[in-house]
Amino acid sequence: MTAKIIDGKAIAEAVRGEVRGEVQRFVAEHGRPPGLDVVLVGEDAASVVYTRNKEKASNEVGMRGRLHRLPANTPEDAVLALVRELNADDAVDGILVQLPLPKGIREPRILDAVDPAKDVDGFHPVNAGLLASGRPGLVPCTPTGCMRLLAEAGASLEGARAVVVGRSNIVGKPMAQLLLAQHATVTLAHSRTRDLPAVCREADVLVVAVGRARMVKGDWLKPGAIVLDVGMNRGDDGKLCGDVDTASAMDVASWITPVPGGVGPMTIACLLANTVKAAYAREAARRA
Ligand code: GUN
Repeated sequence: MTAKIIDGKAIAEAVRGEVRGEVQRFVAEHGRPPGLDVVLVGEDAASVVYTRNKEKASNEVGMRGRLHRLPANTPEDAVLALVRELNADDAVDGILVQLPLPKGIREPRILDAVDPAKDVDGFHPVNAGLLASGRPGLVPCTPTGCMRLLAEAGASLEGARAVVVGRSNIVGKPMAQLLLAQHATVTLAHSRTRDLPAVCREADVLVVAVGRARMVKGDWLKPGAIVLDVGMNRGDDGKLCGDVDTASAMDVASWITPVPGGVGPMTIACLLANTVKAAYAREAARRA
């Protein structure tokens, strides 16, 4: 079997097109664009690129996107003050504080300060709790993107065995909740899971988000599995690669995401979608 490629780049472009239309409708209805404010503390090279891309992408779909850059030595209270200022600003619908934060700044203190109605990352405990309870809220962007990729691949999740490898708050845990909500039987595995290859081999749907280059090999897969690779690593050969050994997995899986061009492009597209969703929900709450 040669796996078909799930083209995340093309699907993300389609999502952006959908968002562009929703932004136009929002502007027509409310006389202002949805606003996304991204906060970057410090100079982490990857974070600088990611946050610039988020600002650019939001402006490209007609939103008001702004990037706030603070030096690495900014006191925690000053970061908190900026978050509170953005919470109070009615033109701001989405607030995203880029992670990781510099040492000395307590991440939970900052993330907990974001208004849950503006928490377009879905990292606030209120939104995490809503997701765990199966209630509507803002859902983290990468797992949301993964669900869209599964839908595009025609995955039937009801009753399927799904394995998520990686238990982060950003990807693994919310991914497991979303699959469960679609009636999959979900195993949440991680680096300390005993006989991980055997656990992966049970998966009709396998989502890998552990951050280890090419860890999952073709012989870890059930024939015909759908494989989503959330990893973004630099391999020993210096090349960008995922957590899945794509070359050997291609012979066993039915569908697979490439790296780059798979899950990655979906994250920003879903951030834009979350921002429009937050904007509509805030306007609805204001009028209620
Ligand atoms: N750092 C790496 N991924 C993310 C993300 O999705 N959101 C934020 N805020 N920071 C990140």
